[in-house]
Amino acid sequence: MLNNKSILITGGTGSFGQLYVKTILENYSPSRLIILSRDELKQYEMQQTFNDPCMRYFIGDVRDAERLMQAFQDVDYVIHAAALKQVPAAEYNPMECIKTNINGAENVIKAAIANNVKKVIALSTDKAASPINLYGATKLASDKLFVAANNMVGKADTRFAVVRYGNVVGSRGSVVPFFQSLIAKGEKTLPITHPEMTRFWITLQGGVDFVLKNFARMQGGEIFVPKIPSIRITDLAEAYGPGLDHTVVGIRPGEKLHEIMCPGDDSHHTIEFDDHFVITPSIIFFDKDMDYSQNVIGERGTFVPMGFEYHSGNNPEFLSVEQIRLVGEGKA
Ligand SMILES: NC(=O)c1ccc[n+]([C@@H]2O[C@H](COP(=O)([O-])OP(=O)(O)OC[C@H]3O[C@@H](n4cnc5c(N)ncnc54)[C@H](OP(=O)(O)O)[C@@H]3O)[C@@H](O)[C@H]2O)c1
Repeated sequence: MLNNKSILITGGTGSFGQLYVKTILENYSPSRLIILSRDELKQYEMQQTFNDPCMRYFIGDVRDAERLMQAFQDVDYVIHAAALKQVPAAEYNPMECIKTNINGAENVIKAAIANNVKKVIALSTDKAASPINLYGATKLASDKLFVAANNMVGKADTRFAVVRYGNVVGSRGSVVPFFQSLIAKGEKTLPITHPEMTRFWITLQGGVDFVLKNFARMQGGEIFVPKIPSIRITDLAEAYGPGLDHTVVGIRPGEKLHEIMCPGDDSHHTIEFDDHFVITPSIIFFDKDMDYSQNVIGERGTFVPMGFEYHSGNNPEFLSVEQIRLVGEGKA
């Protein structure tokens, strides 16, 4: 599906973008693979590893509509990964987060439609489900824009979908590198926010593969949610710092005890498949006969019971301490 196609990834120099590019280059032969991001140094460094002739490095800001119009010319598929994603930074600089995550989403949508891009997938986060912090709220607004964009396409064939998943194991600024830095400094206790706290847990490769699969699955308007395991924060601390004491430091501002991926209030339009859920649009204007219970590759799903909520605390699948360790080492 991606062979001989032109693919653009906003935020392509980020953690997701780099593994996405590696995976595409190992498995497909795109005609162009375009990175769009702001910082020339990150692009320069990425070019030292990823310099296939199909690669193009575009400096650009998703806040700049004109630049996106130009960059999206002759592009077939777009992955929108660019975002400001640090919860405290978003609270402190709210307008900056809104400009990148919401206005940027609008610009991506308009440029994709104007250039008749075939499919667009925007990355979302569990923090966008019933959000309690500004980062999550901007990602929810972005999700809504991408779902509604299917109503705005006019004569274009462009289709938009969202992929929502949870904490990425070891991603920049997350708890694993934080624990590792404390352990490296010789700390004898690890700070735990709350002994009952849980999180969804996905590897970066799992996220990349899920996005790739959904390009084939999507009809337009879906929020795709993978079924992934949960972890207890206490087990995580034990996996990375075996035998160390834990100090309870309290839930930080903007944090939840458990993360939600499919809110109960969306249950009447959420469909369960074997390995994922699809939250369908609450209002469909673009194709009222759209049947989301069967996707493009023929997989069938059924509506979840009313009130069903998929959150990290009620997940049937939890990783053990040993499994967390193996996942961290890339062995599971
Ligand atoms: N990491 C996680 O745990 C996690 C979990 C769930 C969902 N997600 C979502 O996954 C996506 C990718 O996350 P990530 O972990 O790869 O993030 P990341 O490593 O922080 O990378 C972010 C990328 O976005 C670019 N960027 C930021 N602002 C931009 C702008 N205004 N215009 C253009 N590019 C911009 C950055 O490059 P420059 O700074 O050079 O522009 C960088 O390439 C995000 O949408 C995030 O919300 C992440």
